[in-house]
Amino acid sequence: MKKITLIEGDGIGPEITKAVVNIFEAAKVPITWEYENAGQTTLEEKGELIPDSLIASVKKNQVALKGPITTPVGKGFKSVNVQLRQMFDLYQNVRPCCSTPGIQSRFENVNLVLFRENTEGLYSGLELYDERLQMADSIARVTKKGCINIIRGAFKYARAHDHKRITLVHKANILKSIGKIFLDAGQEVAQDYPEITMDDRIIDNMCMQLVMRPEQYDILVATNLFGDILSDLCAGLVGGLGVVAGANIGDEVAIFEAVHGSAPDIAGKGLANPTALLRSALMMLNHLEMRDHAKKIEDALNATFLQKDALTADLGGKGNTDSFAQAVINNMK
Ligand code: NAI
Repeated sequence: MKKITLIEGDGIGPEITKAVVNIFEAAKVPITWEYENAGQTTLEEKGELIPDSLIASVKKNQVALKGPITTPVGKGFKSVNVQLRQMFDLYQNVRPCCSTPGIQSRFENVNLVLFRENTEGLYSGLELYDERLQMADSIARVTKKGCINIIRGAFKYARAHDHKRITLVHKANILKSIGKIFLDAGQEVAQDYPEITMDDRIIDNMCMQLVMRPEQYDILVATNLFGDILSDLCAGLVGGLGVVAGANIGDEVAIFEAVHGSAPDIAGKGLANPTALLRSALMMLNHLEMRDHAKKIEDALNATFLQKDALTADLGGKGNTDSFAQAVINNMK
């Protein structure tokens, strides 16, 4: 039995993690969960934002599934999500966004994979705030090594999954230094992958292109903030935040989590769609080479999308978190 660290998180976190745990149990996935938590709850209960026990558990198990964690806006502690990514050097954030039969959206043929650099850029935590002058600096530190790592990750994925095109997304017309490092890194890495086409787009144009004709793109790579914004945009192309998975991957540790946050507006009401976290958990099973179990659950999930009434409200259905999870279990062969 493989042991996995399970971080339930805040808001809708406990509801959707419970759904995933139940589905995994029904599918007899050979893993056991080691429960840990972080954020406001553990700060109040244990005086620790990220408890030492969580860090030890992730280090030992090397794989974690994580619910969303709330971050105070404009004040308070630094995002736990960002801290975990930096602490374990999870430099690759991989977010597949595909149209799925049964999930209604404006487009039917989107098949994008977004690679977001996960530890640098405007998330470096280099901020200066001058109260007296009412002036602030947020420093977007980007390194060649960081750019090479994320771009190489995207090329490796493209080769392994038979994708033919990679688009680098940037703002090199204005952010010339960061843009140069990022684009130079792209040129360097691309030489090792002659069978894959690489091009680039400026972020603002990219957003327009994606909402008009998303089907023309394949793999996108961006620095941290652009990747963060693009991934919510891409989620909107394929059914919304309730369905898009994500993986934070480093050389030693991988933490799988949905793209969405703790959704305080629907927390505790049983309304959350567990699909995004479930799909993240399926990425985790593939990462662990448990492909048969992943396929079994994915087939049941895809069958459930075709049962309109079983869907949660965000997808126009009448179901809730628990009934949706039960429908997935019922569809398992
Ligand atoms: P959010 O992603 O939590 O919610 C945005 C909208 O999408 C809301 O209307 C919400 O109800 C809906 N939504 C999200 N997930 C859903 C699901 N599974 N099923 C149905 N509807 C869903 O974004 P928001 O409100 O900006 O952030 C809330 C908190 O989450 C903040 O504290 C933020 O910092 C944190 N956050 C945490 C993340 C993480 O843990 N990785 C990622 C993004 C935000």
